[in-house]
Amino acid sequence: DPADYDISLDTGFVPEALPLPRLPDPYYDAWEAAAANLQFLVMTRQIRSVIDSPSFPVLSILRLRSVAERRRAYSILGFMAHSYIWAGPSASEALPEAIARPLVELGEILEVPPLATYAGLCLWNYRPLFADQADPKFLDLSNLATLHTFTGSIDESWFYLVSTAIEIRGAACLQYLLDATHACRADASHNVVVALQLLAESIDSLIPILSRLPEQCDPHTFYYRIRPFLAGSQNMADAGLPHGVKYGSEGGYRQYAGGSNAQSSLIQALDAGLGVHHRPTSSSSPPSSRTGSPSSSAQPTNNFIYEMRRYMPGPHRRFLEQLDLCANIREYVREHKSSNSALTLAYDACLAMLRSFRDKHIQIVSRYIILQAKKPTSTASAPVHTPESPGVFTTKRDGLATVVVNDKKNARGTGGTALLPFLKQARDETGEPAAGSW
Ligand code: HEM
Ligand code: ALA
Repeated sequence: DPADYDISLDTGFVPEALPLPRLPDPYYDAWEAAAANLQFLVMTRQIRSVIDSPSFPVLSILRLRSVAERRRAYSILGFMAHSYIWAGPSASEALPEAIARPLVELGEILEVPPLATYAGLCLWNYRPLFADQADPKFLDLSNLATLHTFTGSIDESWFYLVSTAIEIRGAACLQYLLDATHACRADASHNVVVALQLLAESIDSLIPILSRLPEQCDPHTFYYRIRPFLAGSQNMADAGLPHGVKYGSEGGYRQYAGGSNAQSSLIQALDAGLGVHHRPTSSSSPPSSRTGSPSSSAQPTNNFIYEMRRYMPGPHRRFLEQLDLCANIREYVREHKSSNSALTLAYDACLAMLRSFRDKHIQIVSRYIILQAKKPTSTASAPVHTPESPGVFTTKRDGLATVVVNDKKNARGTGGTALLPFLKQARDETGEPAAGSW
């Protein structure tokens, strides 16, 4: 039952109830005030002094009364943590207790690592634009707004909302995927064909949403102003975090991969259900984190895509593990290949759609990262009002050192992969058609 895994057949991995726009208990007002002003505290370079000030208390998480309240708290603390680390003259290697402790504790309860993850930025960070049409299952890009951003830009909101809209639209994919799996188990081949045809159409319907990214998210703004805030603490020596980040009074450093859509459970669910497997890529696998192993349940692996499961909410991770175990579609198609061409055709259509989703995504990455990194950098190309924006290549500006997150020669994704080699491999593994390769 999907509900056992915090999944809805109406909204997918997005919760069925709207995210809370505010924590109701005034006890948390200090968090809410910082979250409400985040973009301006970042803009005026005061986020660190606000959080460091004695009037910013170390609050207990015990007064959060529901999952929705805990998710909101996790989401805004993640925004605050990344702002604290990256919005300064150089990266901060330590997070103060006031955000570190509740973030770690909430991460343990929600089973997500203590930083800004896809869940905190996209799944739990949206609101309907029109309050009278607020049923999450009908929300699409015409009726979505973000609760929080680092920059206050529409580019950043749109970047998150395109993902949120894909996740909600993806609920139909989950429905048909499960239908197909059940029909295979029942050996109802006609139903398998129908479900796979609908699944192929549903996967296809995600692509136009992804393609709308450039409408409101400018590549330059993305690369220079938004992306640096998504960075993690693993492999970030060049950016000033050689050991990772210290969380409050904890001894030792933690290291985590940065926020990445690779943490989306939807695409991985499609892979798992359709029997698409990903091998490790030589250059993409992040080393296992030291003190900061995000989950005790995940097996050790150096496969980036599976590694990203540890950055998903626990129930979603377990859903994927369960799907791995009971995925039967590929095997079913293989067995009936010679006798049922409609089946092969429908299955191949699913793979083709998933592959073209990945193709579109590769185009986006080329435009939003590769092309931006290749452009000559001059101070003129850097946004004038950027406070010592991490990620701009210049090392000194206004006498302030600038954190180099985006290293031209060694471009990496915020999750830590080698970008195109990794993404192309993932696309190619999405499969040769059943009719061809078996
Ligand atoms: C992975 C960039 C938008 C889905 C990645 C990776 C990069 C990247 C660099 C490799 C992992 C890493 O190192 O972080 C971008 C950029 C985007 C964008 C620049 C927009 C400006 C999206 C959106 C989705 C998405 C809207 C849809 C949910 C994925 C998935 C992966 C991934 C599923 C894992 C690789 C795979 O399964 O093929 N992305 N991404 N991305 N991204 Fe995106
Ligand atoms: N993973 C995306 C990047 O590398 C956000 O920019």
